[in-house]
Amino acid sequence: MSTLPKPQDVGKTVVETPKQLLRVYFPKITVLITTISREGRVNIMTAAWHTPISLSPPIYGVSISLKRYTYELLKEVPEFVVNFPTIDILEKVNLAGTVSGREVDKLKELGLTPVQAVRVKPPLIRECYAHLECRVIDMKEYGDHVWVVGEVVAIEYEERCFTQELLVDIAKVKPVLYLGKGKYTTTENKVYTP
Ligand SMILES: Cc1cc2nc3c(=O)[nH]c(=O)nc-3n(C[C@H](O)[C@H](O)[C@H](O)COP(=O)(O)O)c2cc1C
Repeated sequence: MSTLPKPQDVGKTVVETPKQLLRVYFPKITVLITTISREGRVNIMTAAWHTPISLSPPIYGVSISLKRYTYELLKEVPEFVVNFPTIDILEKVNLAGTVSGREVDKLKELGLTPVQAVRVKPPLIRECYAHLECRVIDMKEYGDHVWVVGEVVAIEYEERCFTQELLVDIAKVKPVLYLGKGKYTTTENKVYTP
């Protein structure tokens, strides 16, 4: 028999058969995903479920619900841009994550500025401080989401937002961190080097 303490004994609440993923993984850095239709209609979607997958070659993944207009567009044109916004444009970030591009031209409605990407069709968003241009190399359904994997084919960033060793300068950049249920936070100006 295990001599380890039980989770309940050390103050943990246990959900043994979760019906839904609890939001315990937040806060997460939040991005704006740009996509484009075959006819050239641009869409923006807010995403918190995204991550780097490989350093070399550079590969990035985003989890996108089967219901999203963004998913439809990715099937038409399998390219996307991951744009990193700051807390200064939080209202726009939140709105891009609450209305669908099926009903609204979000680029226009949010007053965000498209910039021509160098290697993919969807544009960058000027108001963001960094961008990953991605070409889809794989899409696979997991539950109610699709894991969209993209090879990063170009990267843009604003030098003034990064330190000399090319880390985000958090004295200048306040990233958008999602907490869930329409709530957000950002970083404090402190760097720890353990
Ligand atoms: C902060 C935030 C993060 C979100 N993250 C994701 C995500 O990672 N994947 C996803 O499919 N939807 C996510 N959503 C929901 C979509 O952004 C939202 O449903 C959006 O309206 C979809 O737009 P579309 O239909 O134009 O693609 C998020 C919403 C918010 C507000």
